[in-house]
This record gives sequence, C-alpha cells and structure tokens, in this order.
Amino acid sequence: MLAKAPGLGADMVFLDLEDSVSPLEKEAARTKVVNAIKSQDWGEAVLCVRVNAWDTQWTVYDILEVVGNAGPRLEEIMLPKVQSAAEIVAMDLLLTQVEKKAGLPNGHIGIEAQIETARGLINVEEICAASPRLETIIFGPADFAASIEMPVLTGGVQIDEYPGDHFHYVFSKILMAGRANGLQVIDGPFLKIRDHDAFRDYTNRTKVLGYDGKWALHPEQVVILNEVFTPTQEQFDRAFDILDAYEQATTEGERKGAVMFGDEMIDEASRKMATKFVTRGSRAGMTRSAE
Ligand code: GLV
Ligand code: MG
Repeated sequence: MLAKAPGLGADMVFLDLEDSVSPLEKEAARTKVVNAIKSQDWGEAVLCVRVNAWDTQWTVYDILEVVGNAGPRLEEIMLPKVQSAAEIVAMDLLLTQVEKKAGLPNGHIGIEAQIETARGLINVEEICAASPRLETIIFGPADFAASIEMPVLTGGVQIDEYPGDHFHYVFSKILMAGRANGLQVIDGPFLKIRDHDAFRDYTNRTKVLGYDGKWALHPEQVVILNEVFTPTQEQFDRAFDILDAYEQATTEGERKGAVMFGDEMIDEASRKMATKFVTRGSRAGMTRSAE
C-alpha cells in the first residue's frame, strides 16, 4: 500500500498509524512510514501521517519518531477522535518542541482533526478555532456511528430505512465550524469499496453541501472523487463568463454592481461563487474552452 500510494492522483495522501494498523504492529509501522516518506517520490501530493488518538499509549511516541525523523516532506499530522480543543492545543505544543529538535521551521507541520465522536461534534466549534496549525476538519463516519450507537454495520454508507440523510446534521455542523474558521472540510471513508455507484452518489451529497473533498480507500475511489469534485467544463466556462460579465459591468459605462447575465441577475456574490469554480477547476488542470 505504501509503495502504491504515490501516483494514484490523490491531492493528499495520509499514511496510517491508527485504526488500519493492528496493535502489535503499531511500533514497527512508524519506521515503515518514515522510510516511505523519505524514499518515495510523492510528487505534488500533500503528505500526512495519521497518529493514534490521545487516549492510547502511542500518540507522543508516534510524533517523536515520525516528525522527528521524516524530514520536511511531511507536511501534516492527522489527529483522530478529537474530542476537545485541549487535544489540539496539546498537539500544537508537542509539535513545536519536536519541530525545534528536528530542525524544522516553527509551524511547518499542520494539523488535520477528525471528528468521530459525539463529544467531538459538540465541541467542534472550539476545536476548529484551537490552533493556527489547524488546516482541515474531517468527518469520520465509522467511528462516529459507533460513538452515537447507531445500529449500522458498515461505515459511511446510506441507510435506506432513514427518510433523508442520517448524517445531514453532522455534515452541516462540521461544515459550518470549519468554514467559520477558514479550514478545509473533508468527508471520511465509504467502506463498500466495490460499490462505485453508491460511492459516487454518496460523495455528491457532501460535495453539494460545500465539502472540499472526501477520503478514498482504494485507487478506484480516487478516480471517482476527482471526477465528482472537479467542475464540469460547462460550469468552468460559465464561471469565467460570469467573471467577465461582472468585471465589465462594474468597471465600464455606468459601473453597475448588479447586472443581467442571460436571464439571471449577477452581483458581487456571484463573483465569489464563480471564483470558487475557477480556482477548483484550475487546480485540477482545466482550461477555459476557446470562445
Ligand atoms: C474514519 O476514521 C472513520 O472512523 O470513519
Ligand atoms: Mg475513525
């Protein structure tokens, strides 16, 4: 898995020391992760390691060994099962010391926090504001279902008996807390890795709400995610057209702040919405169609 991870087209890759590593392998996994970070070509992917949660005996030693030895290519630490702002503050302080000892610039390592318990969700607003190192807030549906005692046996999938989306409130609450603090907001795993249609359908829900991305557990999920989260060519071109029309309206002639664009009205808010499409599309390598 470590050897295959680069080159799959994911914007970000995290190497796991937490729940996908068995307890007897926890310590040996640290060296494997450090070696993979140092010896493999990770291209442009943001590189992250998920350490064990604060309620285990491993967290501090994960950080000492991994951040202490991985070098500057490691950019983020993911902290799972975050329940309070204090856990983020503690991680920030620990990272500050380890960075200093390892000769890394202060603040080099960003933090990604997973919300996957009832307590974490209740405290998500304080958690999102707890440290300037915080870059991303992530929903963990499998642990979350376990935490709230939801009677499901598969993580992250639609529950047909529920009229609506059983996680709608959770998705929205995390999204608001993240956006209010300028963070990226990411949806977690979908465990039925062979059911591509259901994965695509479920991915669309958090995308439509405004999430920035979602986890992939398998290379085929990466392909689907890149498709879903990249604007269509039509949306990308339309966003550029809106920006052009708005720019023209506000700077030429009567310098109007709100004008007609086809059969709809556009204004400053339209410019902001369009900019998001242009940024995302450009990041995915899209170019505007020839007129
Ligand atoms: C991810 O860690 C999850 O528990 O869903
Ligand atoms: Mg989890």
